[in-house]
Amino acid sequence: METTKRRILIVDDQGPNRELIQDMLATLGQEILQAKNGREALSIAGNDKVDLILLDAVMPELDGFEVAKRLKQDPATQMIPIVMITALDGMDDRIKALEAGSDDFLSKPMHIPELLARVKNLLKVKAYNDHMQGYRQELEAEVARRTAELSEAVRKLQAASLDTINRLATAAEYKDEETGTHNTRMSHYAASIAKEMGVDGRSAERILYASQLHDIGKIGVPDHILLKPGRLNPEEWVIMKRHPVIGTGILAKSDSDIIRTGESIALTHHEKWDGSGYPRGLSRSEIPLEGRITAIADVFDALTSKRPYRDPLSTSLSLEIITQGRGSHFDPKVVDAFFGIEEEILAIKEKFQDVEKSGLLAILEAPAKNTARRPSASRNKITETDRAAQLFCGPVP
Ligand SMILES: [Fe+2]
Ligand SMILES: [Fe+2]
Repeated sequence: METTKRRILIVDDQGPNRELIQDMLATLGQEILQAKNGREALSIAGNDKVDLILLDAVMPELDGFEVAKRLKQDPATQMIPIVMITALDGMDDRIKALEAGSDDFLSKPMHIPELLARVKNLLKVKAYNDHMQGYRQELEAEVARRTAELSEAVRKLQAASLDTINRLATAAEYKDEETGTHNTRMSHYAASIAKEMGVDGRSAERILYASQLHDIGKIGVPDHILLKPGRLNPEEWVIMKRHPVIGTGILAKSDSDIIRTGESIALTHHEKWDGSGYPRGLSRSEIPLEGRITAIADVFDALTSKRPYRDPLSTSLSLEIITQGRGSHFDPKVVDAFFGIEEEILAIKEKFQDVEKSGLLAILEAPAKNTARRPSASRNKITETDRAAQLFCGPVP
C-alpha cells in the first residue's frame, strides 16, 4: 500500500484557478505545491521532488508549452508527467501541448472526476517509473560492483602469472649467475629497445617479461657443463647448445601470450643475423624480432657482468663489441635502436646493478658457496685473446 504522499505542482498565473484546482484535488490526500508562473514552476520542479505537474497553457512570459518543452529537455525533470490545461475548443493547443512533451491534457472548465482519474493514472505511471529507475540504479550499482570485483580478480591473476614467470626465470638464472639480476637488466634493455623500434607498449611489456625466460632451457644443462669455469670442449659445447631447444620444450603450447613470446625468444636468442648462430642457423628476418632484440640485450649484459670465469668488461669495450657485431651477429636496425637509447641503456645498467642476495636467497645460497664451484675471477683470469670467444651469454666458448 502506498504510504508516501505524492507531490503535485499546480502552475497557473491566476491565483483563484490554482486554489480551485487544489480544492478539487483535496480528496486525493496528496501534497500540493503551487507556482504562479513558468519560471517558478521550473525552479520548483528542478529543486523539489515533484510527481505530477498540472500546467496552464496560457501564461505571460513563459507559457505552458515552453515550460513543458524545457522540463522534458532536462534529464532531471523529463520523467515528471505533465497535464496541460487548455481551453475547451483549443484543438491546436492540444496538439501543441503533445508536441511540447505533455503526457495528457485537460480542458477548462475542468470536470472533477475526469481530473481525478487522469491525475491518479499519471501518478501510478510515475510511481512505476520511479520503481523501475530505482531498480535500474540498483542493477547498475551491482554491475559496477561485480565489474570491479572481476577487474581486481583479473589484476591479481595477472600479477600472480607475472610473478610466476619471474620466479621461473629466477630459478633458471639462479645456478649460473652471480647475483641474479642479469634477467632484470637484460629484459629492461630488451623492452626499451623494442619501444625505440616502434613496438607498441603492450608488446614491449610482453617482451619485458618473456625475455626473462630466454635461458630457461639451462635447467636441462648438467651443472658440470653449465658451471664449468674454463672453456667447454666440443662435446660439452654441443650439450650447452641444446638449451634453446630445451627451453622451447619447457614453454611450448602455452595459451599465454607472454609464454609464447618466451618460447620464441628461448629458441632464437642465439641465432645471428648472418645465419651463423644456433640452434637452427636462421638469418635476418627468419629470426623473429623479439629474438633479435633479446640477442643484443642478453649479450650486452653478459659482456658488462661479472662471470665465474672473468671480471666484467668495461662499458666502452662492450659497446665496441656490439658495434662490431652490427650486420654479422646483430640486426643492424636493432643495433641502431640500441645506440639510439644508449643513455637509457646505461641508466638501466646503473639502476639494476648487481646487489648481494638477501633474505631467503642468501640463506639458501650460503651453504652452497665454495670456491671449487664458483671460482673467483681473479683466480681464473682469462686472456684478452680468450675474451672475444667467451663473451656471449654464460660460460659459452
Ligand atoms: Fe642462452
Ligand atoms: Fe642470458
